[in-house]
Formats: sequence, C-alpha cells, structure tokens
Amino acid sequence: MSDPIERYVGNVEEFPILANWDFFNHAGASPLPRVVADAMRKIIQDTERASYVEDHRYTDLGQIRAAAAGLINASEGEIALLKNTAEGISLVARGAVEWKPGDRAVIAAGEYPANVYPWMDLVGRHGVELVTVPEVTDAEGTRQVPLESIVREAGKPRTRIVSLSQVEYATGQRHDLAPIGKLCRERGILFCVDAIQSLGALPLDVKAMQIDYLACGGQKWLLGPEGAAFCYCRRELIEHTQPLDVGASSVINHLAYGDYDYTLKSDALRFESGSQNIVGHFGLLAAMRLLHGIGVDAISRRIKHLTDRLIEGVRAKGYKVLSPRGGERWSGIVCFTSPTHDHNAIARAMRKDHRTEIVVREGRLRVSPHFYNTDQQIERLVERLPGH
Ligand SMILES: Cc1ncc(COP(=O)(O)O)c(C=O)c1O
Repeated sequence: MSDPIERYVGNVEEFPILANWDFFNHAGASPLPRVVADAMRKIIQDTERASYVEDHRYTDLGQIRAAAAGLINASEGEIALLKNTAEGISLVARGAVEWKPGDRAVIAAGEYPANVYPWMDLVGRHGVELVTVPEVTDAEGTRQVPLESIVREAGKPRTRIVSLSQVEYATGQRHDLAPIGKLCRERGILFCVDAIQSLGALPLDVKAMQIDYLACGGQKWLLGPEGAAFCYCRRELIEHTQPLDVGASSVINHLAYGDYDYTLKSDALRFESGSQNIVGHFGLLAAMRLLHGIGVDAISRRIKHLTDRLIEGVRAKGYKVLSPRGGERWSGIVCFTSPTHDHNAIARAMRKDHRTEIVVREGRLRVSPHFYNTDQQIERLVERLPGH
C-alpha cells in the first residue's frame, strides 16, 4: 500500500462515514469526505455572512474546470460545469450532430438511463436509429458487451455517434475505450463517454482514448456532492456544438448585461448558461484535489485489491460473480448473485441489522468499495452475507 493511501484508509477524521457505516455503494452516491464537507460549509458560511462580497467565487470556478481537465488530460477551456451527467449527454445528443432520418447512434446494452433517454429522444424527434449492442454471458458466467460487437456496430454506415459508459453501472464492465475511439476518429464518428462510474477510481485520458465528449457527475467515485457535474468537449468541436440552454454566461460579454450581443463564447464555457451551484462545485473541487493528492494509480490499485478480496470471499460462500475481471475489464463495481437467497432481503438486512450498505441493481447484489474502505470492512461484509 502506498503512503498517501495509508493516511486515509480507515481514517474516521477524514471519512466520518467510517464511524457509522460499512459503506459500499460508491457507485450510487458517496459519503462526503471531511475536506469536501468543510469546503461546502465554508461557502455556506461565507454566503451567510457576506453574500459573494468577500470572495471571488465566479473567478475561482476556473480552478474547478482546471481540476476536472487535469483528471482527464484535457484543458480548462474544454470543460463546462453542469448539474448532472444527463445534462452533459443531452447536450451532446441535441447539440453535436445535425441529425437526419436513418442516422445511427450506438450505445451498449444495460446503460444507465442518463445515456439512453437522450438518444431515445432523437428517435421520435429526428428519425434516428438507436442501436443497442447486446450483452453476452461468457464461459466464466460473466456478463459483458464485447468490444468486437461494439466495433462492428460502430463501423456500419450512417453511424454518427457512439456513446458508452467507461464502466457499466449494473455489471461493472470496463470498456476498452481506446480502440473504439480510434475507429470513431478514423471514420468521422463522434465518441461520447459517460465517466461517472470510473472517474476518481480509474484512469481516463481523453486524448489517448480519442474521446470527443465526456460527461461526469461528482457524487460517485469523485467523492463530491450531488448536483455538481462537468462535461468535456474536444476543442475542435466546441464551435460546432449547440448549447442546450443559453443565458448570460453563454456569451463573450457576459457582464455587459444590457448590451445584448449574442456571440457565444469560443470555449466550453458557452455551455454554462447562468448562475452556478457554487456550494456543490466547490465541494467537487475539494474532492478532486483530495483524489489528485493521492493519485488515481494508487487509488485504482487499492480498489483492485479490495474488490479482488471481496470476490474471493463471496465466491467461497457460494455466490456467482457476474462482473468481468480479466485484463483491464475490472472496475470498482462487483455484482454477484445468490442461487437461493432473495437479494433485496439481503440488502435490507445488511442495512438494518449490520449498518452495512450494499444495493441491488438489475436483480444483482452490487458492492462498490472505495480506496478508504478497510480490509476488515470487506471481511465483515463477507461474513455477514448468508452462506449456501
Ligand atoms: C452510468 C451512470 N451514468 C449516470 C448516472 C447518474 O446520472 P445523473 O448524473 O444524470 O443523475 C449514473 C448513476 O447511477 C450512472 O450509473
């Protein structure tokens, strides 16, 4: 275990949730680390005392864009601060393509609704064909959408965009994004990524993976609050992407309120229409700084260690693991099933009797530990699960 991680693992001062819960739903909504809650409290207190007068909150929002850019190897001007992932993907679906009937949008089976409905919306609106690449069960019983199938569908004529979660919320499959990005770039197809189930836990590089658009909410692996998200738009595409909403912040002279000039900003700030969720975004900044200080490589190694240990334990108790783990397909999400027990009853009993938070998604038990969880917590979880 590397030093920066050691400081946080099991540290109740830094992660107050550790005093109350064995919490394993970071794929749902994470508890706030102390530094994140402190940053949010500070903005609330400052606002209570002096409104905006004594700080530089809107100028400082640049630090949040820069921190988000740093996580994904983008530049600050390619980032816009939004409210949630769905807003980012809707922006792409509505604003990135001049859709014609018969154009194709390709997604994977089992995507979270935030990466489904913005595309379904285009079917009725523009006659777009929404192609969902099916999931298969492989020889080991794990569920995944094969890379070859995605590549095959992406390569068919009239495909305009491929949109994928880097990690699928209901299986934990991590997609190999680089070959998909490469194919898309070669064929002039746009590539959009929902990064909410990976960013903060796993590495992502928009340049190396040739990603054109990305959307990510803050409340999961980034350890931020709900309602603070961001999107990335590749520099060359910004001026070709229509904003979803427009307002005072969208235009170049955004402080010349009465001097109307509808000239959109040339960077991704054109996608921010007006007043921001200041409390949420400063919480997200503190969270990204915390993660940056530890380093994503160390975090992902620790998550791999915890999830490997969990898998070994649940398999030994007779559960069947559905999450792919080979190569780079593993993630912080582990889904498994019991051949006999009721999954909802297990999750309910865990919460009620053991102050242990795990969830059921798509009929499977889902456990998603973060780096600060202890090995003992994983052992306790395995012990508390009913055997077979
Ligand atoms: C893959 C994925 N995308 C997005 C979200 C959340 O979407 P939003 O930020 O729009 O609420 C989730 C939450 O469960 C998710 O699993």
